[in-house]
Amino acid sequence: MENPFKFGTIVEAEYFTDRVKEVKYIRQFVASANHLVMISPRRFGKSSLVAKAVKESGRKHITLNLQQVMSVTDFAGKLLREFFKVRPLERVRHLLSHFRIIPSVTMNPMSGAMEVTFQPGLDGGTLLEDALMLLERANTEQDRLIVILDEFQEIRDIAPKLDRQLRAIMQAQKHINYILLGSQESMMADIFENKKSPFYHFGELMRLGKLPRLDFFNYLSTRLAGVFPENNDAIANRILDYTGCHPYYAQQLAATTWQFGVLQPGTKDAVQAAIDQIVKSHGLDYERLWMGFNRTNRWVLKQLATGGALQSVEHRTSTVYSALKRLQKAGYVIYSDRYELEDPFYRQWILDEQD
Ligand SMILES: Nc1ncnc2c1ncn2[C@@H]1O[C@H](COP(=O)(O)OP(=O)(O)OP(=O)(O)O)[C@@H](O)[C@H]1O
Ligand SMILES: [Mg+2]
Repeated sequence: MENPFKFGTIVEAEYFTDRVKEVKYIRQFVASANHLVMISPRRFGKSSLVAKAVKESGRKHITLNLQQVMSVTDFAGKLLREFFKVRPLERVRHLLSHFRIIPSVTMNPMSGAMEVTFQPGLDGGTLLEDALMLLERANTEQDRLIVILDEFQEIRDIAPKLDRQLRAIMQAQKHINYILLGSQESMMADIFENKKSPFYHFGELMRLGKLPRLDFFNYLSTRLAGVFPENNDAIANRILDYTGCHPYYAQQLAATTWQFGVLQPGTKDAVQAAIDQIVKSHGLDYERLWMGFNRTNRWVLKQLATGGALQSVEHRTSTVYSALKRLQKAGYVIYSDRYELEDPFYRQWILDEQD
């Protein structure tokens, strides 16, 4: 029997639930000439959602994760490589003659993909501009290409002033819809909402929340029924309570619980056994993380884990607040309707350490 839950990768088809409104919205959105910016904490389902919406739209699209881009030259090369996957090189070969510096395009015999390389030492900016111009020229206003740039906040790390240059190029394009995704909320907000940033008001800002409880409940409960026919509803509710409806952690806990049900059917409390196993398997990482936090951070994390007040005589409000902001920026703390620990299993580990 195959595990009906999936976590850690892009989910689609039967592993994807809800987001009906969002899918519709994105499909409508890319039908206009505008660009979309999507922000959410890590692993809320941005990549999966956009992949689904774009696939359903039937439009040509390419995706690039900026975390995997090493330099501006690499950016240009990867954009072209992805583009040649949706548009055969033969059809756009003539456009390569517009390049100020002609790249070499070779076929990777293993993957069949076209690899694009440039002579070393060239100005990355020129290459990127030429690459983006090729994308523009190879498409039309009636048949726009969708370019998805994931982990877009990385733009600031790839090279200084790259954001300014990129914006200048994109501004002149009419044959591309950009969808820019990012998970570091404060950086993304700074890129798109700070008046001084080149990307200020570049596109419509969409913030993705957790999955709605009822739909997620049905998704979990139906799939749990095969292994836990008597208490599938109760288990689904417990998983959602424990993970606060976090898409990734709920799927992870459901997958592990399901596995206990199949492999050790006698387990009295499969959810608890799953929690214990997940916490234990991350124990070393959690410990290392903890050692790296200063005292204020540790105190704040403990308060969030236990639900304690974030005020005390020993900790000044301003210090606590800046610790919270730092922890949020680093992704350990998220804010939806209140501040909470991002990882419910880390929360458990912290609670267990208190005993
Ligand atoms: N619509 C959904 N239905 C069911 N599970 C989902 C859904 N969206 C996300 N998930 C769960 O969350 C996990 C993370 O999804 P995804 O990789 O799309 O998120 P992300 O926001 O792009 O994450 P990252 O910040 O790591 O880029 C998936 O592997 C899956 O377990
Ligand atoms: Mg993603």
